[in-house]
Amino acid sequence: MKELSKTVTKTILTGIQPSGVITLGNYIGAIKQMVKMQEEFKSYIFIADMHAITVPQESNLLHENIRSLVALYIACGIDPNKNIIFIQSENEYHANISWLLECNTPFGELSRMTQFKDKSSKNNNFCAGLFTYPILMAADILAYDVDFVPVGIDQKQHVELTRNIAIRFNKKYGETFKIPDAYIAKEGTKIMDLINPIKKMSKSSENPKGVIRLLDNLDDIRKKIMSATTDSDCKIIYDIENKPGISNLINIYASITGQSIKEIENYFANQNYGEFKKQVADVVTREIEGIQKRYYAIINSNEIDNILSENINIVREIAKNKFITMKRKIGLYR
Ligand code: TYM
Repeated sequence: MKELSKTVTKTILTGIQPSGVITLGNYIGAIKQMVKMQEEFKSYIFIADMHAITVPQESNLLHENIRSLVALYIACGIDPNKNIIFIQSENEYHANISWLLECNTPFGELSRMTQFKDKSSKNNNFCAGLFTYPILMAADILAYDVDFVPVGIDQKQHVELTRNIAIRFNKKYGETFKIPDAYIAKEGTKIMDLINPIKKMSKSSENPKGVIRLLDNLDDIRKKIMSATTDSDCKIIYDIENKPGISNLINIYASITGQSIKEIENYFANQNYGEFKKQVADVVTREIEGIQKRYYAIINSNEIDNILSENINIVREIAKNKFITMKRKIGLYR
């Protein structure tokens, strides 16, 4: 049995798409926050596989990535005894709730989502799900009455939309949802691409040299950091505007070591970029080495299936109750 309900009062939830091996950005932006918060909060963490199919996926690969992400969560320190880990598509009430929310969300508001504008501009053959994706995300969150949603800054707008949807629904139909807040860490809110540091590090990036994936070979990770784009000014100072590459490396170092940006600037004040990058590579590879060891120890174990099978019953019950409440309020009952 889970230890969850004993002492904790506040609830957190987050999800990651299994659309490829997750990146250092996902780890720092979302997973690390959950690991920090799991002692204090009742925590849900899921595999956002229905979000992943809003862009084309190869079925076999998607199937593998789903299991792999569960193993990575655990390997990264998400404790299955303190968190409810589950697969979104196994809980059909997320999609059911999403439809009820879709019918209560103005088209215009959804059209303002910057992630949709960005993704749809890259390929005009996109599916309708890419547009309604933030409402499914709202359903994921609102089904569980969570207090906080730990995410990277790129998802902040979607959490704000979720809040608007919940406030509007509560006003129209009476108190139904708790209003959640995004929880965004101070450092590492957005880890940038190593080659093009004005773009976020992303699973779908075309250039693999700019992206660190948690299952990359450790030597490759070191090489990627050593060849990260910097500038010619030779000062290790945090300045996103003028020094995006160095600022990104400072951010990565800060997020992993827990040191503040000021401390890092002082510590590296008289060192050169080569030495700084080497130390960034040391802390990153050390962290990822541990994750990989744990990952390979559990990826083929029954532990993963046992956890998922136990948890799906818990989350289905919660989301089902929310769905029934919503239906009654809307008038969908006999
Ligand atoms: P996804 O899969 O794009 O990213 C998962 C989490 O990682 C964060 N993230 C980053 N943080 C810092 N730097 C980066 N370069 C970086 N790249 C990604 C994201 O902000 C996110 O927190 N729609 C979501 C998944 C989702 C979800 C939810 C999240 C579905 N339902 C409900 C929270 C609550 C997504 O596509 O994340």
